[in-house]
Amino acid sequence: MIQVGRMAMMAACFLALVGCQDDYREIKPAATVAFAAQLSDHSIYKWPQADLVPDSGFVLLELNSTLYSDNALKQRLIRLPEGTSMTHQGDRRPRFPDGTVLVKTFYYTIEGSESGPNLQVIETRLLVKSDGVWNAATYLWNQDQTDAMLVNDGASVNVEYLDEQGDLRALLYQVPSQRKCAKCHQSSGEIVPLGATVRNWNRDVLRDGQQVHQLAWLQSKGLLNPFDVEVAPHIPNYASEDVPLAERARAYLDLNCSSCHHPEGIEETQGDGLDLRFETPFHQTGIGGQAERMLQNMVEGRMPDEGLVTVDEAGLALIQEYVDSL
Ligand code: HEC
Ligand code: HEC
Repeated sequence: MIQVGRMAMMAACFLALVGCQDDYREIKPAATVAFAAQLSDHSIYKWPQADLVPDSGFVLLELNSTLYSDNALKQRLIRLPEGTSMTHQGDRRPRFPDGTVLVKTFYYTIEGSESGPNLQVIETRLLVKSDGVWNAATYLWNQDQTDAMLVNDGASVNVEYLDEQGDLRALLYQVPSQRKCAKCHQSSGEIVPLGATVRNWNRDVLRDGQQVHQLAWLQSKGLLNPFDVEVAPHIPNYASEDVPLAERARAYLDLNCSSCHHPEGIEETQGDGLDLRFETPFHQTGIGGQAERMLQNMVEGRMPDEGLVTVDEAGLALIQEYVDSL
């Protein structure tokens, strides 16, 4: 059974409401890296690449809270130049050495053979730091899933996938253009990473079959400077029912909205009074006066403003519950 109804409707409504009005005042994109035409030239994955097994030098990063991306699953990797490490600075992002590569690959689980479901890999996004600035690019995987090609102007990909209930769903996935990367990945006019933060990495993970603290593990590999991980900043998992409602909602708004709605974000949101970062004290967020509008914009699929063709129903329910509680 394919459930396209709601999504097709969302896509249409999206077009009707925001049309092709995808303009925003761009920042000058960094061009200190010449991106290779093919993903394989970056040696990120072992062959066959679509198994998404990181090649040497790349390690997995797992987040507490993530951006909703039309139900795509995502894998995040990092590689630092040999002998270098990241430095925790106490604020959102650590300091990254020149030459750092951050990778995010989007994929879906599809019906497979008798051995179970397999993957359709869609795109691999890169952030590469060079000469002190971040460069952004994305690679679109080919149909044979052997490699991915650099795409600067975006693309649409038909996807069928199995949702959490095991039902088959379909959507027209949107690969962003290169200029769109900076719409979200922007602070004070520069491209910045968003999820690559000590607080979002502050969690337990499985490494070599053992449960370890991710920050301590990164430190043990020499990738992160030594500091007491017990007192490191933390952002909770907004999907966890064990976390208090207000914290869940604030974590959700941080990951899904604050990349544009913060005081150093894109010009178009400046002056709207919304600062949806997790650490901003409630009375300075603007949520108090705009809660209903936030909700309404989410219901209509107007917000988040970029790239989605479906509404995040779970996220919407969370924000609804939060707004009702205020
Ligand atoms: C709708 C806003 C948005 C757009 C557009 C966007 N990103 Fe991101 N990106 C995020 C957020 C939020 C995160 C962190 C949360 C996560 O990974 O789920 C992230 C994470 C990443 C990461 C992992 C490192 C990090 O910053 O946490 C990479 C690499 C990345 N994006 C590259 C890109 C590239 C390249 C483009 C353009 C082709 C792009 N992104 C477009 C919002 C966006
Ligand atoms: C990719 C950037 C981006 C992201 C992510 C984003 N917004 Fe926005 N938002 C904008 C822009 C640009 C405007 C102003 C233009 C407009 O209203 O479309 C705006 C306007 C708004 C407004 C005011 C609209 C009105 O009714 O006057 C609200 C409220 C809002 N956003 C809430 C949110 C919420 C909640 C989220 C997360 C679920 C979110 N936004 C995510 C870019 C973004």
